[in-house]
Amino acid sequence: MNRKVGRVKAGSKLKGWVLGGAMALGLATAVAAQVEVLHWWTAGGEAKSVAELKTLLANQGHQWRDFAVEGGGGDSAMAVLGDRVANGNPPAAAQIKGPAIQEWGKKGVLANLDDIAREQAWDAQVPRVVGDIMKVDGHYVAVPVNVHRVNWLWINREALRRAGGRPPRSWEEFFAVAERMQKAGVIAVAHGGQPWQEFTTFEVVALSVGGADFYRRAFVKLDPAALRSPAMEQVLTTFRRIKPYTDKAATGRDWNKATAMVIKGEAGMQFMGDWAKGEFLAAGQKPGEQFLCVAAPGTERSYIFNIDSFAMFQLKDPRAAQGQRALVKTIMSPGFQETFNLNKGSIPVVTGVNRDRFDRCSQESSAHFAASAMLNNLVPSIAHRMVQGDAKEKVLREAVAAFWNDERVTADETMGKFVAVVK
Ligand code: BGC
Repeated sequence: MNRKVGRVKAGSKLKGWVLGGAMALGLATAVAAQVEVLHWWTAGGEAKSVAELKTLLANQGHQWRDFAVEGGGGDSAMAVLGDRVANGNPPAAAQIKGPAIQEWGKKGVLANLDDIAREQAWDAQVPRVVGDIMKVDGHYVAVPVNVHRVNWLWINREALRRAGGRPPRSWEEFFAVAERMQKAGVIAVAHGGQPWQEFTTFEVVALSVGGADFYRRAFVKLDPAALRSPAMEQVLTTFRRIKPYTDKAATGRDWNKATAMVIKGEAGMQFMGDWAKGEFLAAGQKPGEQFLCVAAPGTERSYIFNIDSFAMFQLKDPRAAQGQRALVKTIMSPGFQETFNLNKGSIPVVTGVNRDRFDRCSQESSAHFAASAMLNNLVPSIAHRMVQGDAKEKVLREAVAAFWNDERVTADETMGKFVAVVK
């Protein structure tokens, strides 16, 4: 696996050295404190998005210190964060999502952002479901960046044409297209063989095959009667049917490398959230031209949401705290929300952002977010840390990965592991 844990970009080391030199020369007052930000946005579209935030902060006289930890889905980043906080040396901000915000908040290490939230009227700016995730005991401690839709299928248009197919809307259509792509010499499904990516595909199949109510009963409520059920068995069976359409070299592959296969036409399709679109765009491709974004089979009228956010840690250095506050305000500004999300593939989380420059995938995402909420088909991503705390999420994720990777593991055994989570 390509994971360099704790890799801090070389540029920031250089900046640190220059800063040290400046202080030695007595120029300390002229140099802003550094705002250290931990994140896992290292792929092409992600890095472009982060660069925007760095620039906006620099324009306000604050210095960004990059603490990038490679590893899609953030497993490595979360491990590194744990160590840093345990050593009493937290970064100013860290990419922390969902219930983990609560877990960190309860430890009493996060900063209270209520005054900024009041000043910028956050309660009116973000949907309630989002605001609640950012609060601990009613106080804001984190700031939301975007909304990603997870249940997408990315398709290379030329590969689809060669397979003589239309974008699949049901699983039967999907397997028929996959079969034809394989016959045409294209890897039908680009897959990155890492547990979080298997879990991502799995949750999409679960929503499609079981429906939103089933999804909520299983993954939000952890209802044993859903975790072990004929519906879950059907989810697992459908999920496993996808595997023969992936290639042998998938093991350990990073998600963006899988996306690159679709970009180059080596593979036809990929199940992935819309951070994948950032990769297509960074490669100069356009939706509807070289690639297509369609809802994963059977999920057009539903939406799995994944919200990125930054939690802020309490800081001792008042200058660093100032930079941190500037970071928070910038993230919530319409200008940042627009540019960042144009690169990232997600949609803005705050209201009133100009959507004119957003492409058809994003327009569709926005429309479906609202429509799914009305239909009660809007569900949080289990694979992307939106529902359960880390411990439970990990058990489910590993059970799914074991099922995918070893044919001898049965659906029954896997459902047994799911149910054990409740205990
Ligand atoms: C994050 C995205 C990120 C993706 C791949 C997801 O969990 O929400 O922002 O692009 O992982 O690393």
